[in-house]
Amino acid sequence: MKVLVTGGNGYIGSHTCVELLNSGYEVVILDNFSNSKKETLEKIKKITGKDFKFYEGNMIDRSILEKIFTENEIDAVIDFAAYKAVGESVAKPVEYYTNNVSTILVLLSVMKEYNVKKLVFSSSATVYGDPEIIPITEECKTGGTTNPYGTSKLFVEQILKDLYKSDNTFDIAILRYFNPIGAHESGLIGEEPNGVPANLLPYVSKVASGKLECLSIFGNDYNTKDGTGVRDYIHVVDLAKGHIKALEKLEKENKGLFIYNLGTGTGYSVLDIVNAFEKANGVKVNYKIAPRRPGDIATCYSDPTKAKEELGFTCEKTLEDMCRDAWNYEKNNN
Ligand code: WQD
Repeated sequence: MKVLVTGGNGYIGSHTCVELLNSGYEVVILDNFSNSKKETLEKIKKITGKDFKFYEGNMIDRSILEKIFTENEIDAVIDFAAYKAVGESVAKPVEYYTNNVSTILVLLSVMKEYNVKKLVFSSSATVYGDPEIIPITEECKTGGTTNPYGTSKLFVEQILKDLYKSDNTFDIAILRYFNPIGAHESGLIGEEPNGVPANLLPYVSKVASGKLECLSIFGNDYNTKDGTGVRDYIHVVDLAKGHIKALEKLEKENKGLFIYNLGTGTGYSVLDIVNAFEKANGVKVNYKIAPRRPGDIATCYSDPTKAKEELGFTCEKTLEDMCRDAWNYEKNNN
């Protein structure tokens, strides 16, 4: 089976390409390097010992997609290509809606033109907004998103639902990620955000390595066990394997549009993460308590039952694995 992976050179995309290649899939990557480094392509080959085709470009350009679909017998698409920085999206809404929504409209149009009907879409837990119910199931209300990033994911989910209503020969899996962290055990690929990290774990890694001076913990007055924000952190390799499970379902089982939370079902606070990172790696993470970050919510973690029952997906990696692998990547690449 040949899979087109858009944004396949990025953080989650590259880890998923490793798992695809290791599982025997043929892979075609489309990426514009807007949030990844060119050398990641070679690292994917080094980890797997396998080759793949690569096209540089942006999905907004229909011609690059038509070139790919003309030159390759694509059986399915996994779409990662999107901007994903929550804070940045508030400052740059037009760029986010253009890159996260307009692009998939072009992709879906070309998929229809070439009769490619299997799609795995990279969505996010942010579509739940400030969740009414914890832990969060796929039946929980979506909407009330607090930033253009989350809203762009909500828009695309609606587009996919409307597409499926119009043409039920599509098979679509919408995967709502919670908080992906960690890195491949090889230390060759991992999370490499441009500039100062917005997310917690890459920031913690940089403080531990001395690249950044001190972690600001955004608020310790939330209604949580220790006052700091609680999230559902999932190892990026577990997350990647969840995509293989979703692809297998689209390939082998009943058809349709499916929505799954990909999380561990366990919530950890910011202080839990700091303590776990220090313990797993024997390092010190300097921190201070700072004001809350606008748009943050107190608690968000998943009920992973549906993915377990319908995909046979369960997370294998522990919080210690996530912290150790993230630190291993930081030491090997900076
Ligand atoms: C986690 C916790 C912060 C940084 C976002 C997106 C989500 C996904 C993951 C794409 C919160 C606290 C953070 C820091 C801190 N992205 N924090 N100091 O906001 O839960 O989720 O990233 O798929 O869609 O919404 O992740 O890592 O930014 O924050 O105290 O320097 O860490 O307040 O409680 P978030 P995060």
